[in-house]
Amino acid sequence: MTEWHPGSWRAKAAKHQPMWTDAPELDRVEKELSSLPPLVFAGEARDLKANLARVANGEAFLLQAGDCAESFDSFDAVSIREKLRVILQMAVVLTYSSGVPTVKVGRIAGQFAKPRSSATETVDGQELPSFLGHMINDLAFSEADRKPDAQRLIRAYHQSASTLNLLRAFTKGGFADLHRVQEWTQEFVASSPEGQRYDKLAQEMRRALRFMAAAGIDSSNHKIHQAEFFTSHEALILQYEEALTRKDSLTGEFYDCSAHMVWIGERTRDLSGAHVEFFKGIKNPIGCKVGPTATAEDVIGLCEALNPEREPGRLTLITRMGADNVAANLPPLLKAVKAEGHPVVWACDPMHGNTFTAEGGYKTRDLEAVLGEVTGFFAAHEEAGTWAGGIHVELTGEDVTECLGGSEPVAQADLGQRYETMCDPRLNARQSLDLAFRVGELLVD
Ligand code: PEP
Ligand code: CO
Repeated sequence: MTEWHPGSWRAKAAKHQPMWTDAPELDRVEKELSSLPPLVFAGEARDLKANLARVANGEAFLLQAGDCAESFDSFDAVSIREKLRVILQMAVVLTYSSGVPTVKVGRIAGQFAKPRSSATETVDGQELPSFLGHMINDLAFSEADRKPDAQRLIRAYHQSASTLNLLRAFTKGGFADLHRVQEWTQEFVASSPEGQRYDKLAQEMRRALRFMAAAGIDSSNHKIHQAEFFTSHEALILQYEEALTRKDSLTGEFYDCSAHMVWIGERTRDLSGAHVEFFKGIKNPIGCKVGPTATAEDVIGLCEALNPEREPGRLTLITRMGADNVAANLPPLLKAVKAEGHPVVWACDPMHGNTFTAEGGYKTRDLEAVLGEVTGFFAAHEEAGTWAGGIHVELTGEDVTECLGGSEPVAQADLGQRYETMCDPRLNARQSLDLAFRVGELLVD
């Protein structure tokens, strides 16, 4: 058997890849990407893995959140800041409720490629390739816009670098100070019609911060002043991921330096496929989506292939069953993985199994179904004696109307008002906080 190398995946079948038409151009782009600096360092990926090991051990909680697909068009400091703000707010609520640290990972700074249920889209009799994310083609429906363009891989790299730079500045430069985050959350509670429900938790949080200040633990403590924030995306386009995979000079091991964590999607998790092959050799903490068709054997196979050394924090299984299926489908998987003694992080993606098309043709999700799946996830873990380790959600900091429900409810008739996503519907800032408070309640139960 030949030794793994970053290009090993090329000998296997890769699903959901674009139909690149200009092979020499793709080749040039790969060479250019290989010569560009890494976006993250191996040591940072190891830090995240250590944090996730604490989640695997039931000593921390994972919050992984961000866009379904990042956009080249709506790329500005305000939208990045607002997304970060809502994730930090959710994390404070979760940490306070659970009494354990929240590990914060964004679907950001690299989340540009999408697997699609259909390879083509037909409008008025014209059939064109589906939109595959801004790393590959454009959303506009014309032959030129939908043609895969390898130069977009370079643009995705540079946008990821700027995004990461801003995230590092925000999280280390005072924006993420715990007192400020708590104040924002306080505003939410004060202005929310359902706020009274959360008021108790918010008041306790305020008292705890006051107590810490009185005890001399104040903002000069960097843990209060700064936040640790990591990046992640679905590593779908393997040429891009391979080009950013570098040998760590400290350990001699390979890390995919396009993000701290990368994950395998539900559609590309077959054991003999190219994605699993690529992931076997990188040492980052990795995720794998697990949907309703996954059997216990599939999941054990993934654990063995992706984490043969049983390293805690290496593998996060992100289950996305759908609110109606979680009670039946999740328990056998929890039981099997527990029986085999694999140390995984279990996270719940309550978004992708709960998507439907509403009147007017809008793809949407109802917050009640999202909460339903999270509740079922916690119940299944309680029953199995395993740790419900985290949530994985699609959200934005903006006031969009893409998902239904919430404490300031979005109704079907409202969906058209601000429906801006390029791909799946995202929770808006308020719905995201609603979710955090509700998950917080599940964590204290
Ligand atoms: C996603 O996370 O946007 C996604 C496509 O998910 P899944 O692979 O679970 O369908
Ligand atoms: Co999505």
